[in-house]
Amino acid sequence: MTTSSDGLFTEWCRIGRERDDADPLKAVTDAFFRPRPTLYFDGNSLGPLSRPARDAVRRTLKQWEELAVSGWSEGNPSWFERERWLSARLAPLVGARPSELSLGGSTTQQLHQLLATFYRPTGRRTVVLVDMGAFPTDRYAAESHVSWHGLDPASSLRTIGPDDAGFLDPDAICQAFTDDVAVALLPSVVYTTGERLPMRQITEAARDAGVFLIWDLCHSAGLVPHRLHDDGVEAAVFCTYKYLNGGPGSPAAVFVHDRHHPVTPGLWGWWGSDPAVQFQMAPEFVPAADASGLQLGTPSMLAMAPLEGSLDLFEQVGIEAVFRRSQELTAFLLEAFHALVEPYGMTLATPEHPERRGGHVGLRHPEALAISRALKQDGVTPDFRMPDIIRLCPAPFLTRSLDIVRALWRLRVILREERYRTHLTDDSPVW
Ligand SMILES: Cc1ncc(COP(=O)(O)O)c(C=O)c1O
Repeated sequence: MTTSSDGLFTEWCRIGRERDDADPLKAVTDAFFRPRPTLYFDGNSLGPLSRPARDAVRRTLKQWEELAVSGWSEGNPSWFERERWLSARLAPLVGARPSELSLGGSTTQQLHQLLATFYRPTGRRTVVLVDMGAFPTDRYAAESHVSWHGLDPASSLRTIGPDDAGFLDPDAICQAFTDDVAVALLPSVVYTTGERLPMRQITEAARDAGVFLIWDLCHSAGLVPHRLHDDGVEAAVFCTYKYLNGGPGSPAAVFVHDRHHPVTPGLWGWWGSDPAVQFQMAPEFVPAADASGLQLGTPSMLAMAPLEGSLDLFEQVGIEAVFRRSQELTAFLLEAFHALVEPYGMTLATPEHPERRGGHVGLRHPEALAISRALKQDGVTPDFRMPDIIRLCPAPFLTRSLDIVRALWRLRVILREERYRTHLTDDSPVW
């Protein structure tokens, strides 16, 4: 399919190799296992496994084998302290203070905890504002809290839609912070289009308007060097299985700015207790004063372990270098897209400006699902999002510019020869 005799392909491969020679993350790329098929473009759904992550899981298993319950006190670090220890290591990646971050459960659970804690509809202020294209779980969580308070979602759940170009307009968002909005829930990077929002501007506008703004950072944590504390972000949630390469179902993080400490959690659980009194097993709940007060039950040592190893690599290269590499890769992907793919009928769903895009590029086509299946058959792992977007994410630690050329060339051939047509009736599940 991709004949090396094709001059154009050869030329793009040469450019790709040239770019890869300057890859600042080269030293750590080899620490990652290459998933099969090897052209992996789904790091924004699930980051790849690294050797340090695998080794950390093995270490934890060994501790369980040798220490059993004593691991809670004798593990290294002790299992009792491990979540705090790991949160403290994660904190600099998002510009948080250690006391402002806590790990556990899923993004959805953390979101429920934040809404239970900070959504207190009073007087006119009853509305929860979400973006129309929000990841479904965000909207579900928001709507469930509106209903929980006995309010009607038809009037108290408000959405803000994209403009004609399909993007959220930051100014329109700021204007939507009216005096009846209690809480807003927004993504740092929109999961479909890859649009990145100017967080500081929106955070300030929300604060000025008296709106408690929660950021969903799932598509930017481990990619964008956030400054959550300094930017005055009130609260945020994010998963660790995408750019942070923490493994399938790894724990989610919750951030609460320390100006809200001591936090009085909306949902109570014994693991949110002040550690000094947790094992007194008293009937009164005394929450930890910091973000740990939002914990509920026992954190999973095994689910946390890969993150421990993955953070070794972030600490080695720094989040700024990761973001720079991602931006270089997405810029190159856009370049190659315009030259090789656009002429065959796909359009761009992502803003081109580097300040307005995250780590993935969205491409639109009415037959995107069939195209995505054809790509998979040809050794490329993209992902598809309803109704018509293929997301391509060059994982900053793993993907090379040469991989981009190879993947886009295959996409070009699929479109040019309309090879996706054989997948139009395929009804296998969409992941
Ligand atoms: C933007 C966004 N928010 C929330 C979630 C849901 O996360 P979880 O399954 O950890 O609750 C996802 C999952 O991909 C996501 O992309």
